[in-house]
Amino acid sequence: MGSSSRPEVVHAPRRIRTIAVTGSASGIGAAVSRRFERSGARVIGVDIHDAQVTADLSEPAGRAKAVSAVAELCGSRLDGLVVCAGLGPQTQPTESIARVNFFGALDVLDGLLPLLSAGEVPAAVVVASNAAGLTPAHQELLQALLDGDEDKASACAAGLDGSTVYGTSKLALTRAMRRRAGAWGKAGVRLNAVAPGPVDTPLLAGGLEDPVLGPLIEALPVPMGRRANPTEIAAAIGFLLDPANGYIHGSVLFVDGGSDALLRPDIL
Ligand SMILES: NC(=O)c1ccc[n+]([C@@H]2O[C@H](COP(=O)([O-])OP(=O)(O)OC[C@H]3O[C@@H](n4cnc5c(N)ncnc54)[C@H](O)[C@@H]3O)[C@@H](O)[C@H]2O)c1
Repeated sequence: MGSSSRPEVVHAPRRIRTIAVTGSASGIGAAVSRRFERSGARVIGVDIHDAQVTADLSEPAGRAKAVSAVAELCGSRLDGLVVCAGLGPQTQPTESIARVNFFGALDVLDGLLPLLSAGEVPAAVVVASNAAGLTPAHQELLQALLDGDEDKASACAAGLDGSTVYGTSKLALTRAMRRRAGAWGKAGVRLNAVAPGPVDTPLLAGGLEDPVLGPLIEALPVPMGRRANPTEIAAAIGFLLDPANGYIHGSVLFVDGGSDALLRPDIL
């Protein structure tokens, strides 16, 4: 290295990190929680059941409750956030998919930004899906979601099949994450998304049992030839939250065994 090269940037946390995880009771959120607990972090789990913070993220009141309860527990300083709570495409009524997967995720994300900006080398990860690119989006729903119009989005979603609502909600969530890169960068908080493919969790099991969705899920080509274990998604989330990766911001990390690359090789 020449003498003009910049010194290596090392952001080693100096104290026990506090990480909030929504959807902590099951699947990917549970794997993320276990991973951080094992690494010595303090995890504040948020879920509709079996969590430190019990809150229903399908409703604005439940999201506000989640934000204030996390603030109280973390002492107004949060180092990491994983927004994982979600419903599968088999869920009825379909409007609840948009309510939880989009508005439930973003309200918690935005509500906790002030706590994150007070944290140590803070970062957040949203759990999107490769369905964002692989499912044809419904344009009216997409617009209502991105406009933040929950009533209009819910009314629109109520008339659509669950798969369309799921994919469109995940696309809107991914775009909403990218649209926040400027403001969150200024606030000193990194924000990224993971886009998993099929992961062996209760959510996927529910989809596989559905007579219409099951065969479609089975038919998805996966170059790696298998489904993911939740710990593999947790590992990617751990990477994105790691202070050592301090220049990764506004990125979408596909953790889908190569399906998106196979089906949309020229998207970039
Ligand atoms: N499993 C997959 O194949 C897959 C693929 C791509 C993306 N994802 C995404 O990963 C995330 C986690 O899914 P998973 O597969 O671990 O599912 P899961 O069903 O195992 O876990 C989801 C968790 O979210 C919680 N949740 C649901 N509705 C809620 C509400 N209203 N309020 C609070 N919590 C609520 C559930 O109680 C549950 O603990 C979801 O956002 C999902 O869309 C999953």
